Amino acid sequence: MLQKVARKQGWPVKLGKEIVAMKVLVIGSGGREHALCWAIAKSPRCDEIYCAPGNAGIDQVAICVDLAVDDYDGIIAYAVDNRVDLVVVGPEAPLVDGLVDKLETAGIMAFGPSARAARLEGSKGFMKDLCARHNIPTAEYGRFDEPEAAKEFIMRHRAPIVVKADGLAAGKGVIICRNENEAYAAIDHMMAERAFGEAGDEVIVEEFMTGEEVSFFALVDGETALPLRSAQDHKPAFDGGEGPNTGGMGAYTPAPVIDDAMAKIIMETIINPTVKAMASEGIPYKGVLYAGLMITEDGPSLMEYNARFGDPECQAMMVSLKSDILDALIACAQGTLRDIRLDWHKGAALTVVLATTGYPGRYESGTEIKGLDEAGRVKDVVVFHAGTRMVGDKVVASGGRVLGVTACARNVAEAKKRAYKAVNLIDWPEGFCRSDIGWRAIDR
Ligand code: AMP
Ligand code: GLY
Repeated sequence: MLQKVARKQGWPVKLGKEIVAMKVLVIGSGGREHALCWAIAKSPRCDEIYCAPGNAGIDQVAICVDLAVDDYDGIIAYAVDNRVDLVVVGPEAPLVDGLVDKLETAGIMAFGPSARAARLEGSKGFMKDLCARHNIPTAEYGRFDEPEAAKEFIMRHRAPIVVKADGLAAGKGVIICRNENEAYAAIDHMMAERAFGEAGDEVIVEEFMTGEEVSFFALVDGETALPLRSAQDHKPAFDGGEGPNTGGMGAYTPAPVIDDAMAKIIMETIINPTVKAMASEGIPYKGVLYAGLMITEDGPSLMEYNARFGDPECQAMMVSLKSDILDALIACAQGTLRDIRLDWHKGAALTVVLATTGYPGRYESGTEIKGLDEAGRVKDVVVFHAGTRMVGDKVVASGGRVLGVTACARNVAEAKKRAYKAVNLIDWPEGFCRSDIGWRAIDR
């Protein structure tokens, strides 16, 4: 029998049979954070869960705190005053800004990488140079802070070629160029026109790779990496991969292209060498490591790292996880991940994102969403909220991506059927979704 005991704020937390009653604060307001709150709240170790700032769905599983994601002083003061034991940071911006460092300085345990380690996501040049120094497979590249040199590199290497802003650009800082003129224009767009502000002061120009794209996630405690799962996202806004790129219109896990043998290769050639490289350079990585990979003819190659869970991949992953996520997050923060084992539900999970019409461009907020309870009652479906808020007793849309309808089933095809059954019960004329989430896995 697990026994709950109160504890003093601070660490370490013993992950034994005696369960300490913990207060957890999640930072963020998206579907990813709803899924994290939902999963953490199920832990017998979780006594109270808060989320800053949260959304209308998170409000049903956690106490929402009216603090902005970038109000770092406010977040730290809240965590100290409320004796929070663990802070879980969802989005990349506060990680890159050093929120985890600030929390740890204040004596609060935090899940996520330090600012220096989060450069794996925050600076593509840092990531590429690390790969080069440690023989981690990635596309050949050049790193430039001066347009003429970048253009010379393009002239020598020829198109197709990829131009990337070095810094965070909200997922928009990558331009695939079919010919050299497009590549020169991309350089001017980033460096002269400063389309992504200072994120484009430096650019990476890299070899164009072909293959199947896949995401792979692992938990890391500084030394040890524990694989989570693979997933595939759907970035373009519309069916068939048409339209502008978004943060992700749907995802499923696991990705059939990653069987056990491929997962082992990814761990051995990419994830473990990265963890070792970061530790050996004095920047131990703690948190979730999200690798964007291309499975090429020569094997997996790293396209990008993210220092956080994917959104919406996290939603599909959290409903698939049988084990206690809170134990695993604590172990990451404390460096005891080698003691953790993760069990997963058999089969697949799939998330369909509902977004406000107009997203990823301009859209209207404040439209009412009905039918959420009916959708949530579909067997093995969870409706995660992203951009929603309550106005009186109504749920209204308040963002681009608004809901992540997530279903579990024996395989991707069945999960898709279930998810769309729930989607069809949602009454929100101002929203849209793709109707083909999961096509790649089903085609296989
Ligand atoms: P990234 O943010 O670096 O993952 O890039 C965004 C998207 O651009 C990826 O999801 C790929 O579809 C594409 N991409 C990035 N780098 C390459 C590359 N070297 N070769 C081909 N496609 C790429
Ligand atoms: N779904 C893509 C991302 O989280 O970056």
